[in-house]
Amino acid sequence: MKITVVGSGYVGLVTGVCLAEMGHRVIGLDIDEDKVQQMRNGISPIYEPGIEEWMVRNVEAGRLLFTTDKEKAYTESDIVMVAVGTPQRPDGSADLSFIESVVMDLASYVNHNIILVIKSTVPVGTNHYVKSLIDRHLHHDVTVQMASNPEFLREGTAIKDCLEGDRIVLGAENQEVHDVLRSMYRPFGIPIYATDIRSAELIKYASNAFLATKISFINEIAAICEKVEANVDDVAEGMGKDKRIGPSFLRAGIGYGGSCFPKDTTALVQIAGDYDYPFRLLESVIQVNTKQQNLLVEKALKYIGHLEGLEVALLGLSFKPNTDDMREAPSIAIAHQLVRYGANIRAYDPVAVDKAKGILPSSISYKNTWESAVEGADIVFILTEWDEIKQLPLKKLPSLMKSPNVFDGRNCFSLVEAEEGKVNYYSIGRPNVLSGVKEVVL
Ligand code: UGA
Repeated sequence: MKITVVGSGYVGLVTGVCLAEMGHRVIGLDIDEDKVQQMRNGISPIYEPGIEEWMVRNVEAGRLLFTTDKEKAYTESDIVMVAVGTPQRPDGSADLSFIESVVMDLASYVNHNIILVIKSTVPVGTNHYVKSLIDRHLHHDVTVQMASNPEFLREGTAIKDCLEGDRIVLGAENQEVHDVLRSMYRPFGIPIYATDIRSAELIKYASNAFLATKISFINEIAAICEKVEANVDDVAEGMGKDKRIGPSFLRAGIGYGGSCFPKDTTALVQIAGDYDYPFRLLESVIQVNTKQQNLLVEKALKYIGHLEGLEVALLGLSFKPNTDDMREAPSIAIAHQLVRYGANIRAYDPVAVDKAKGILPSSISYKNTWESAVEGADIVFILTEWDEIKQLPLKKLPSLMKSPNVFDGRNCFSLVEAEEGKVNYYSIGRPNVLSGVKEVVL
């Protein structure tokens, strides 16, 4: 099939590459000349393990091309998939201006019947709004049929998620559209869940909101664990053995970040509010997540006493491992709090430093290895569970650091490892381990 994918961010690029891999002929349209040139040269605009190899393979096979030429993109395909950003407005609602501008371009160029698929996360009712906008502005006598096809891929495992997802959700305006899109996705071999357009739009928000709810729920349980001296990792594992609950998204920590959960939870509260429905549960999920980002600094103040003039090493900056994405990363709130309390910060992240530099306080010094970040430090804060960080030998810390205080926001180590490493170890929802050889007097 001939498909155009508009937008080359996470969703657009990965979707386009995977559709090409399945044998379709895909045009990737983007308005950014530099980005398009880079992609033609095999350079990905996003950090995603494996993506460049897949891009190059499909470009060389003639199944994938990148362009800024709107006329070509809209006249040479039968299916147009929109995967442009829907950033958050100050009031929490989704900004649809990128989608609107795609629609206006498409309306002026498209010269044959097409199916328009919205992949971007959009408020319920957007497909119907887009349809009316297009119909009012079409320059030719053609039909544009709509479909909603929300995306469930995660950064860092995007290709795998796209090719091996649990389901593909298709909301379409009639059976003919369902049938065409079903055959487009047939080579993926993933179960397809077909529904109406509004339900498909809501499935996306409801799914992200539910996963965020699981995270805030386990973070609340972690707070109770600290009070009753239980271990949240064991509680989560015990809960997860019940198939009705499931083990995933029950890792306690310093909260969820990224470009999706914070934005989509706020937007769903806003959508409900637009229909005079106060979504109290989700409001609490968001509040818990904000509180969670303050937790490590609060613990440090409680157990160390102060942060003024102390050397603090941050290990991991991105919102999660295997991405350089700093959007809504807990490291942002934490770094600003540490600076306010007078700490001197050095930071290490395997890939996110370039992006972090434009976002975190300018006083931070960046190091090329975790060892150089922790050397001479009074406190280590673990903020992202990169494999490299999970594998660092704790027992090296007492000799490298001024005082071996580790505040782990991602529960990377077992309490036994902390004890054997002879560090003072404070994690989330688990007992503290005070086995550091040096006194905790700073
Ligand atoms: C999320 C969803 O998982 C995808 O299904 C969805 O397609 C995507 O948003 C989107 O809407 O585009 P992503 O933001 O890439 O994907 O990241 P996740 O792996 O879901 O993690 C989100 C945040 O939750 C991270 O900050 C992570 O550290 C945190 N998290 C995750 C926890 O704190 N605990 C957990 O148990 C799991």
